Amino acid sequence: MRIVLCGGAGYIGGHAAVVLAQRGHEVAIVDNLSNSSARAVERLGEVAGMPFEFHHLDIRDAAAMDRMFALRPVDAVMHFAALKAVGESCEKPLDYFDNNIGGSIALLQAMRRAGVRRLVFSSSATVYGDPERVPVTEDARLQVSNPYGRTKLVVEELIGDLCRAQADFRAANLRYFNPVGAHESGLIGEAPGGIPNNLMPYICQVAVGRRPELSVFGGDWPTVDGTGVRDYIHVMDLARAHADALDYLVREDRNLTVNLGTGRGVSVLELVQAFAEASGREIPYRIVGRRDGDVAEVFADPSLAQRLLGWRAELDVRAMCRDAWRWQSANPDDYAD
Ligand code: NAD
Ligand code: WQD
Repeated sequence: MRIVLCGGAGYIGGHAAVVLAQRGHEVAIVDNLSNSSARAVERLGEVAGMPFEFHHLDIRDAAAMDRMFALRPVDAVMHFAALKAVGESCEKPLDYFDNNIGGSIALLQAMRRAGVRRLVFSSSATVYGDPERVPVTEDARLQVSNPYGRTKLVVEELIGDLCRAQADFRAANLRYFNPVGAHESGLIGEAPGGIPNNLMPYICQVAVGRRPELSVFGGDWPTVDGTGVRDYIHVMDLARAHADALDYLVREDRNLTVNLGTGRGVSVLELVQAFAEASGREIPYRIVGRRDGDVAEVFADPSLAQRLLGWRAELDVRAMCRDAWRWQSANPDDYAD
């Protein structure tokens, strides 16, 4: 199939591009490089063994999107393109509404004009907010507590309405839990600009000497060791799920909303310990106050994805830490030369 990956130069889209190319699909990457780089696109080509078709454009640019879709018939779009920093979304909600919601509407319109009727959307466990119980199933109450999360929920709802209105439109909402790790080559990985918001890239930067210590946000949560518990999932397992979800849309001709996680909760201190073992580096940390908006414990019930897609996460926390470290130690400044 010819598949367009919007936001495909980024962390998760890039890993998905590699997996899709390995499965024999023709991949075209569309990205405005607002949170990625031309160098990352080059590296993706190195990993895949040949350069990717790349379109440097914004999904909100209707004319450019029409030109891109007109090149060759497209079988499906995977939509990774979004801003994703929760804190920033509270400061600049309009930027998030414009890019994430406006961008998605513009993309759906461009797909409609081009007659493309399959979509795989990067949603997030953030749509569950502070879940009433764990593991979280897909029918749990949806509730969001910040503008970023709202954009994910709204776009899921817009896609749902579109599926109801357009009989032949098929979509998969993939609710990612906490993606971490990197391709085993060490050539590509997560490259947060500035101070990392997320735990694993922060740990990586401490390990490589870019930051003195990790701040652990809260040691008094009602969890196994008082620190926050999450469902970390290896980005290569996640990437594989995208290929499987697209196969499902084609094979079953039905829409899909699934959790993508391992089903296992891991605390901050457990992840720090696993990373120290995998890297052989000490990770100095200090327990500080809770971060606004955080919750104690979130992990997935991933059984629906297993039932519908035949997919399950295969890589454990050791592999996540090993591969994150291989990437960061070989590229201490991410994609910078
Ligand atoms: P990322 O920032 O690395 O990748 C997103 C890519 O989209 C970037 O390359 C960016 O340049 C591009 N982009 C953004 N707006 C664009 C626009 N208007 N037009 C064209 N390109 C645009 O982030 P990621 O971690 O790879 O996340 C991918 C998707 O998964 C996002 O939608 C994110 O919200 C979602 N998600 C991420 C996580 C996570 O923890 N990383 C968890 C759940 C969901
Ligand atoms: C994990 C744990 C922190 C950093 C966020 C978004 C969510 C999704 C994934 C996109 C928590 C603790 C973190 C640090 C720490 N993104 N922590 N020190 O909060 O589960 O989810 O990313 O959809 O929407 O909210 O992930 O990696 O930020 O935090 O102690 O420097 O690590 O308190 O317990 P989170 P995270």
